[in-house]
Amino acid sequence: MEAIIRPGKDSAALLVAQIIAKELRANPSLVLGLATGHTMEEVYGLLVKMHKEQGLDFSLCRTFNLDEYVGLSPDDPRSYRYYMNRHLFGLVNIDRRNTNLPDGLAGDLDEECHKYEEKITRSGGIDLQILGIGKAGHIGFNEPLSALRSRTRVKALSPITIEQNAAQFGSADNVPRRAITMGVGTILECRHCILLATGDSKANVVAKAVEGPITSMISATALQLHPRCTVVVDEDAAGKFQASEYYRWIFENEPEWEEFR
Ligand code: F6R
Repeated sequence: MEAIIRPGKDSAALLVAQIIAKELRANPSLVLGLATGHTMEEVYGLLVKMHKEQGLDFSLCRTFNLDEYVGLSPDDPRSYRYYMNRHLFGLVNIDRRNTNLPDGLAGDLDEECHKYEEKITRSGGIDLQILGIGKAGHIGFNEPLSALRSRTRVKALSPITIEQNAAQFGSADNVPRRAITMGVGTILECRHCILLATGDSKANVVAKAVEGPITSMISATALQLHPRCTVVVDEDAAGKFQASEYYRWIFENEPEWEEFR
């Protein structure tokens, strides 16, 4: 795992967008794993800008989102499909047939989860997975006690997550109680994971994810098992790290990061 500390939330989002753009240019048929949430909005804004100003090409790219609420239709403005159309898919030259999210309205949800896993496998697996982190330490909707080898499945949302997402639904009472999410095991199979966290409200949980013991209570800690995981944070989210100076040293000295410094 590498932890990269950028001065602010804009430069953190820019680094993530630059990494995505670099991988997409190197492999136009990239299989990209996507996340929703506030943190990602700026990353998608930058990718749209790169598409418009530098011709960043999404025409062959295939995408798989981490999760979707159970019970929301794709045209519900609170659904993650709607979010993706609004922030990325509707603004770049991606073929919508190549974009995948779990179907939260599927009649048989277990079958839908199984089919989602199969589709990821048929696509050759996810090359680059973008992740946010919830205040309860979730990646995707892998709430506390999610098995570290879990696969795509229906998961009940924790009270912390319901509270975190209440604003989009008017109140906590309106937040769906369940979501379909890729499992921790599914995420660990992606070839490269990038987790982006910004703001001091994420400082505690991101320090636990990077430096704490691996535990199913904080599913993001499982990323310590991943052979290629990059955690990008701003100074605020880095506030509780024990070893920030070491992370800064790595970023300044690793040849891999030279073009991004
Ligand atoms: C959303 C997702 C979640 C979010 C996380 C952070 O698809 O997978 O894990 O990434 O809850 O959300 P924000 O960025 O709104 O704090």
